[in-house]
Amino acid sequence: MKDLEALRETLLADIAEAKDLAALDRVRVTALGKKGSVTARMKGLRELDGEARKAAGVALNALKDELAAALDDRRAILDGAAVEARLDQEHVDITLPGRAAPEGRVHPVSQVLDEIIAIFGDMGFSIAEGPDIEDEFHNFEALNIPPEHPARQEHDTFYFAPDANGVRKLLRTHTSPVQVRSMQAHGAPLRIISPGRTYRCDSDQTHTPMFHQVEGLVIDEATHMGHLKGCLADFVTAFFEVGDVPMRFRPSYFPFTSPSAEVDIGCTRKDGTLSIGGDGSDWLEILGCGMVHEKVLVNCGIDPAVYQGFAFGIGIDRLAMLKYGIADLRGFFDADLRWLRHYGFAALDVPTLPAGLAR
Ligand code: PHE
Repeated sequence: MKDLEALRETLLADIAEAKDLAALDRVRVTALGKKGSVTARMKGLRELDGEARKAAGVALNALKDELAAALDDRRAILDGAAVEARLDQEHVDITLPGRAAPEGRVHPVSQVLDEIIAIFGDMGFSIAEGPDIEDEFHNFEALNIPPEHPARQEHDTFYFAPDANGVRKLLRTHTSPVQVRSMQAHGAPLRIISPGRTYRCDSDQTHTPMFHQVEGLVIDEATHMGHLKGCLADFVTAFFEVGDVPMRFRPSYFPFTSPSAEVDIGCTRKDGTLSIGGDGSDWLEILGCGMVHEKVLVNCGIDPAVYQGFAFGIGIDRLAMLKYGIADLRGFFDADLRWLRHYGFAALDVPTLPAGLAR
């Protein structure tokens, strides 16, 4: 029994001195492993008899329990120390200077354009483009606006000086000439949107001489005014990301559509900001639309006896003002960095329908 006491003390001392988990495990194996000192003594019990075996058994079992408890305690301490050591090694040096955020911001017009493309792209529209400098045929005549038509005056057109033959080019007053170019190039059926810059000699809080529109055109054999309404309602809901945007279709007139409508969105103007809905005290016109006029189809080489369709022209800047609460359109084109830092968007937040349009 004496040497059992000596063994106990050595093992307990070894456990207490084990510096890490590996060393502790080595102690465990030397005592309790297959060839361990305590295990050997357990095996030795066989050679004792009667009372001696019983007494030695009790003592050995008590020693095993004591060692197991001591191993557990030491393991807990070493575990804690290992975590501490790791934390010490991996700690973040918060005194290091942070990385500067990228400086550039995405302009609200570009942001809204990307959002519009995401929505109509999902509806199966493709993108078409046309030139900013147009001729009178594409901007007016093909769209059923002959030279003497009063609509010409309403467009406040910027004309270039006439060439030697007296032909005047102009800055397109709307994106509708891209309808003409697309129908001429691709015929029917057709489903396009065409975003771009447009120009009119006009300037106040909600008008600037250069602004942005996106044209939409759907031509096939069965499309009707109900599809136009549904398409625009879906667009407005997806764009504003709220269910109940007040929307009103007002009967209107465009030479290139019949019937025609203008669409307003209900808004509230308060303390220099503009918000959607609210008390609905105000309306902002965001688009013109209608069923494509027969004469336009004929002018573009499409048979109106077979095909029909709808078109719309949305003011992109207007949409940006409404969605992001920007009261004055003129700020869009001031090129003021402070304005852009305030209203701009992070460069890598590309709008998609599943991830959300604006984050
Ligand atoms: N082009 C028209 C405008 O700028 C808008 C529009 C487009 C209307 C397509 C009807 C159809 O005012």
